[in-house]
Amino acid sequence: MSHSVALNFADGRTFFIAVQEDELLLDAAVRQGIHLPLDCREGVCGTCQGKCETGIYEQEYVDEDALSERDLAERKMLACQTRVKSNAAFYFDHSSEICNAGEALKITTVVTAVELVSETTAILHLDASSFDKELNFLPGQYARLQIPETDDWRSYSFANRPNANNQLQFLIRLLPDGVMSNYLRERCQIGQSLMMEAPLGSFYLREAERPLIFIAGGTGLSAFLGMLDNIADQPNQPSVQLYYGVNTEADLCEQKRLIAYAEKIKDFSYHPIISSASKLWQGKSGYIHQHLDKQQLQQQRFDMYLCGPPPMIEAVKSWLDEQSIEDCSIYSEKFLQSNTVRT
Ligand code: FES
Repeated sequence: MSHSVALNFADGRTFFIAVQEDELLLDAAVRQGIHLPLDCREGVCGTCQGKCETGIYEQEYVDEDALSERDLAERKMLACQTRVKSNAAFYFDHSSEICNAGEALKITTVVTAVELVSETTAILHLDASSFDKELNFLPGQYARLQIPETDDWRSYSFANRPNANNQLQFLIRLLPDGVMSNYLRERCQIGQSLMMEAPLGSFYLREAERPLIFIAGGTGLSAFLGMLDNIADQPNQPSVQLYYGVNTEADLCEQKRLIAYAEKIKDFSYHPIISSASKLWQGKSGYIHQHLDKQQLQQQRFDMYLCGPPPMIEAVKSWLDEQSIEDCSIYSEKFLQSNTVRT
């Protein structure tokens, strides 16, 4: 029996490997060309240390000088002593370059649709079935897309989860004069080829052991759509609150899809928030941090994921600091206007 395992590195690169049930993670990585740093291979030196972020695993011998009790409780692990018992994701806090892991995948995709989902947002649909196996990525990760007939690349979060047919979606903000925006408006044609590099990024869903709070600004929503699709399919679903902030009502997109998650995820709540709302808007207005439940967040441990423009992310983090809310894990990815920046 073989498990699909994502190896994530500090430079934002991810490599998927197959690990047999009786195989050590380190051996499986090396067998597939990813030379994780190692020394003793006996669980003593700690050189092959990483952290399990999702999935079930077991370790054989772990010396107390290599990992403490606290490290173990935090799911830190030694690749030379780890056997995986399910699909899993591990993080290694060093660049993938030292593993001689090679380049990220570059795949030729074909445009199958461009869907205008709000006045300022489009969904680009790409067919990546030229890649002869299922393209693996973690919900929340992103791809770089090359704008045809240019040397320009732009980064966009996947707006769906991996699937057998490699049909991919990306939520893209249409700027008045952006390289991708101009391409989508003026030159994009169904059937056109487009190069993609993936998977990339360290913003992805970890093992959900606490309630989840998702905070999306604008097209930062894209990353959460894949995460929500993933959670909707899980037997043990965490509670999820999604806060989605945009400038005007016209910027809201994928409303039907968001509302439908309430049918698929048992404890799901959705809060759209408009910063410059019209008089007709009857929902929440202002900024997202103004609508977070201070009392609830002070009483309950939670994991918070933030994806969107830097001011939104900074405002929420400052608000958490001001309320002395510390018992949480925070993962964030900042979007600049024309690109994605991993933080
Ligand atoms: S290589 Fe020394 S602990 Fe794994």
